[in-house]
Amino acid sequence: MLIVGNWKMFKTGLETASFCTELARRVDGLDGVDVVVCPAYTSLDEAVDALGGTSIAVYAQNAHWDAEGAYTGEVSAPMLAELGVTGSLVAHSERRQLFAETDESAARRIDGLLGAGLSVIACVGETERERDEGRTEEVLERQVSAIAAAVPPEERGRLVIAYEPVWAIGTGATASPDQAQSAHAFIHRLLQVPVLYGGSVKPDNARALLEQGDVDGALVGGASLDVESFGLICETAARIPS
Ligand code: 13P
Repeated sequence: MLIVGNWKMFKTGLETASFCTELARRVDGLDGVDVVVCPAYTSLDEAVDALGGTSIAVYAQNAHWDAEGAYTGEVSAPMLAELGVTGSLVAHSERRQLFAETDESAARRIDGLLGAGLSVIACVGETERERDEGRTEEVLERQVSAIAAAVPPEERGRLVIAYEPVWAIGTGATASPDQAQSAHAFIHRLLQVPVLYGGSVKPDNARALLEQGDVDGALVGGASLDVESFGLICETAARIPS
């Protein structure tokens, strides 16, 4: 099982340092679960420092596709690698919806990250409207195919997909375990890499979601900001046989 905390634009560097010290005390070395945190760029250094020597990895939330260039405000994969960051999220739905991320730009970012030796968690998921129109599988197929095309088979060990139905993110409206299972099984038929579920995962619904056969872990937003609730989700995952 893999449990990933996406902190979005929350936590300063100071808050990150104390959270990570506490998280390490709580979950470092827990058998049966790998743990990753994704702080904001400004807190990556603090997270890497606080988690050095532990089993908890630090990923970024995004990365530019080029190694360097005239891209004001952007950060590249080699810059992240030098900090000790070992991977990044790509194409989160907030980036797709608010920052014009497309399947094409996502594929370029993935290429840049893999080229710098980093791992990738690439996000996919349908909107409420797409689900209502019965287009969930069509959307997932398009998004997953674009990601798969960017990752040669020999690099697939560094790719994880996160299924995050847009209507379940930050809304408290989690996908039901059956809905998650069926979307994950569909994605697994397209691409044989681990698939995380994301969208209102909390300590009290984590078990039912993580117990589904095709759910390989969780990408947690709001509940990852609190060390108690994130720790509980990690402990729940550790208890589920793989
Ligand atoms: P919430 O867990 O807050 O719904 O966020 C999910 C998410 O977007 C994780 O990337």
